[in-house]
Amino acid sequence: MTISLIAAVSENGVIGTGNGGIPWDMPRDKAHFRNYTVGKWMLLGRKTFLEMEGWFSDQTPVVLSRSDQFEVPGGYRVETIEAAVALAQDHHVPEMVVSGGATIYELSLPFVNKIVLTRIHAKVDGEIFFPDVPWEQWQLVESIQYPNDDENPYNMSMEVFVPNR
Ligand SMILES: NC(=O)c1ccc[n+]([C@@H]2O[C@H](COP(=O)([O-])OP(=O)(O)OC[C@H]3O[C@@H](n4cnc5c(N)ncnc54)[C@H](OP(=O)(O)O)[C@@H]3O)[C@@H](O)[C@H]2O)c1
Repeated sequence: MTISLIAAVSENGVIGTGNGGIPWDMPRDKAHFRNYTVGKWMLLGRKTFLEMEGWFSDQTPVVLSRSDQFEVPGGYRVETIEAAVALAQDHHVPEMVVSGGATIYELSLPFVNKIVLTRIHAKVDGEIFFPDVPWEQWQLVESIQYPNDDENPYNMSMEVFVPNR
């Protein structure tokens, strides 16, 4: 099974504001995120899932939460990453996409075998950061640059990494 991780990260490592939400509005990256996740299982932390309420169409959310009261319409609640992986394997899911936030990225990194990264080429204020990745263990296999335009205020690169072995 592919366990991919998708994230958009600024030059200074920011992925979130700290009071809910992402500190940029980049329609091109939103479209990329939607296209990449369409039809797939997504693994999310409870905070990110709640921020994205109403967003899911044919994605299946798998939400990490310790609260057994928490319900996930159209998806599943799990208490560990291992449980999410086992659930996806039981359902013969070809790919599960780890979709944040910071806590979930960090916990799932040892399980991930593909990284799909949007680099936002700007230093941005925020309090939630992408975890440290041992990049020497990964190789870049795809990198596409996009200049800023009227709708997308920053230059960005869309990169794909696979394990370096
Ligand atoms: N730039 C990007 O690509 C991107 C992508 C996604 C999200 N984000 C941003 O990331 C931020 C949210 O990240 P976050 O780290 O604060 O929150 P999060 O990872 O979305 O969710 C945290 C929640 O996950 C559950 N959880 C965490 N560790 C757990 C464990 N070991 N076992 C069981 N459950 C666990 C807990 O839920 P309970 O409290 O219910 O137990 C915890 O409150 C937001 O600003 C969001 O916009 C950015």
